[in-house]
Amino acid sequence: MLNVTDLTKTYASTEGPVDVLRAVSLGVTGGESVALTGESGSGKSTLLHLIGGLDRPDSGEIRFFGEEITALGDAARARLRRDRVGLVFQQFNLVPSLTVSQNIALQARLARRADAGWIAELTDRLGLTGLEARYPEQLSGGQQQRVAIGRTLANRPGLILADEPTGNLDEDTGDAVLALMLELAETTGAALIMATHSQRLARRFARRIHIRRGRLEAA
Ligand SMILES: Nc1ncnc2c1ncn2[C@@H]1O[C@H](COP(=O)(O)OP(=O)(O)OP(=O)(O)O)[C@@H](O)[C@H]1O
Ligand SMILES: [Mg+2]
Repeated sequence: MLNVTDLTKTYASTEGPVDVLRAVSLGVTGGESVALTGESGSGKSTLLHLIGGLDRPDSGEIRFFGEEITALGDAARARLRRDRVGLVFQQFNLVPSLTVSQNIALQARLARRADAGWIAELTDRLGLTGLEARYPEQLSGGQQQRVAIGRTLANRPGLILADEPTGNLDEDTGDAVLALMLELAETTGAALIMATHSQRLARRFARRIHIRRGRLEAA
């Protein structure tokens, strides 16, 4: 489903170029859940941004459902991201002026994939039933992150990229949110790649990879 080959990314810095990713290759199949660990600054977010089409690599290939995304123009990459990739970040990025149900449906509406039955099921499985008419500021952090996950999954993405999604949550809430993400990814057949600092959370994944000095290794 996802095939990354020899990806490189170098950033310029005042101390000279920094080779963040050096020939990173990775294959992920549909329904697979992968934890991505590595020290702060090791390139976890960089790798997720490249896979999600938010940034371009210096060289290498990213194939998503057979399509080479590095070759696409900005508009086509944005469309692919909107339609097939779900992003979840540490910051929940909800729209403050929209209710819970409006936030959940937002991306699926934009992608013209809003399915009322699926959105209702998601709302229920995320434990958000009864909170649909609230605004983000009226929710706890864990509730807000569950809305953000609902917004991502409403679209039925083939690939979910999550960057420290539980980083702003306490341990118990983070565990519950992760369990929901794993379960929903599995039931929708989506692949999930999650960057985390936490070895404890990483252990919940069947597959773990680690970035060290710009290269991926099994962890
Ligand atoms: N836009 C940028 N310009 C220059 N350097 C950058 C840029 N983005 C990231 N970097 C550098 O690239 C390296 C990798 O950053 P990245 O954010 O991918 O790390 P990370 O593994 O996600 O770290 P953390 O665990 O702290 O989130 C760091 O050294 C960072 O300073
Ligand atoms: Mg990061």
